[in-house]
Amino acid sequence: MEILAIETSCDDTGIAILSAKGGPASGGDEFEVLANVVSSQTALGKKYGGVFPAMAKREHQKNLVPTLVKVLKKAEMLNSKVINETPDFKNILEREPELEKNLISLFKKYGKPDVDLIAVTNGPGLEPCLWVGVNFAKAISQFWNIPVVAVNHIESHILVNLLENPEIKFPAVALVVSGGHTQIILIKKIGKYKILGETRDDAAGECFDKCAKILGLGYPGGPIISKLAEIDPRGLSANRPRGSIKLPRPMFNTKDYDFSFSGLKTAVLYAWQKISAVKFHSSENLRQQKINMAAEVQQAIIDVLVKKTIKAAKDYKIKTLILGGGVTANKELRKQFKEALNTSSRVEVFVPTPNLSTDNALMTAITGFYHQKNKIPWEKLQAESNLRIGEKVIK
Ligand code: KG4
Ligand code: ZN
Repeated sequence: MEILAIETSCDDTGIAILSAKGGPASGGDEFEVLANVVSSQTALGKKYGGVFPAMAKREHQKNLVPTLVKVLKKAEMLNSKVINETPDFKNILEREPELEKNLISLFKKYGKPDVDLIAVTNGPGLEPCLWVGVNFAKAISQFWNIPVVAVNHIESHILVNLLENPEIKFPAVALVVSGGHTQIILIKKIGKYKILGETRDDAAGECFDKCAKILGLGYPGGPIISKLAEIDPRGLSANRPRGSIKLPRPMFNTKDYDFSFSGLKTAVLYAWQKISAVKFHSSENLRQQKINMAAEVQQAIIDVLVKKTIKAAKDYKIKTLILGGGVTANKELRKQFKEALNTSSRVEVFVPTPNLSTDNALMTAITGFYHQKNKIPWEKLQAESNLRIGEKVIK
């Protein structure tokens, strides 16, 4: 079956077409990526120092139709078929006039593609952004008469791993670390999840982003901090006064699987204020301090993520560990997870290639594939910004 997927939960506009064979029951799933495009708003985020929902919504409105055309073209599904009547969206796009205009011209120019299912992220995420994607999916579903399935964004960060590794065995423990979420999840099987632990305040990605802002490094913080930390791996610099920057590892020793990252951000703020207050820093010295701080922030985050996730896998006697979400694009985090597992257990770890760690629509497509039975009439589709993947286990 061919699945057209739409992902707009944050600031990236993702559309993809995935060809999938097999099925949950057959045991032998095969996937072929027909097209995968992410229109990133990173330039805008850089300019304004973060993501602003209303602005991101406007960008999605602008980007969705051109991205869809690109994807259909790549998948060789762009069929010219001129119609004269004007499509009626039954007020679906009342709040997205620009998108409505673009979609009308698309529908007047091109015919229905050979697609069996639409998959769209309906939560969790930024409410205005989710609604644009959901309304876009509704309009397409209605006009081209294609059924639609709603996809949980957190689940899709996990299941994207099956694209490259369809043989992954369950039960498994997953760590999802993104700009909005940090959760350890127990997976009994696809569709059956329990939250073992999660952040009590900021998400790990948010911590990277906020610390980068404090250090004046720009947005998004994760990739920038990671690059800077690479220049000078911890402790190897000849110039570095060893142990000069030591940040806390919040909740490292607690018995639960929860996290807390807001204190780490505050610690960086105070440490950086202290460093910047010293007048005699040369610019080279200040740069070195920034590199050291970046490496230490990254290590503090990795330390707690690795410790708590492996503890969860061991406590629940799980042999499969699945990582997902934007922060798992981090090279050092990937390396340290693998090292920790090599030496300590027979747990196998799966992590997506970096461009599938961050938001994209292939993850939405594959999740839609596994939930194809849950397709609903487009009228029932709703965005749910606080959607949860499962109940939290209270110890
Ligand atoms: O999953 P994602 O693309 O979007 C959300 O669902 O939030 O994650 C975005 C987050 C941002 O906070 C970004 O700074 C972080 O992932 N990120 C990274 C790296 N690449 C992206 N964090 C650390 N290291 C990276 N290389
Ligand atoms: Zn995400």
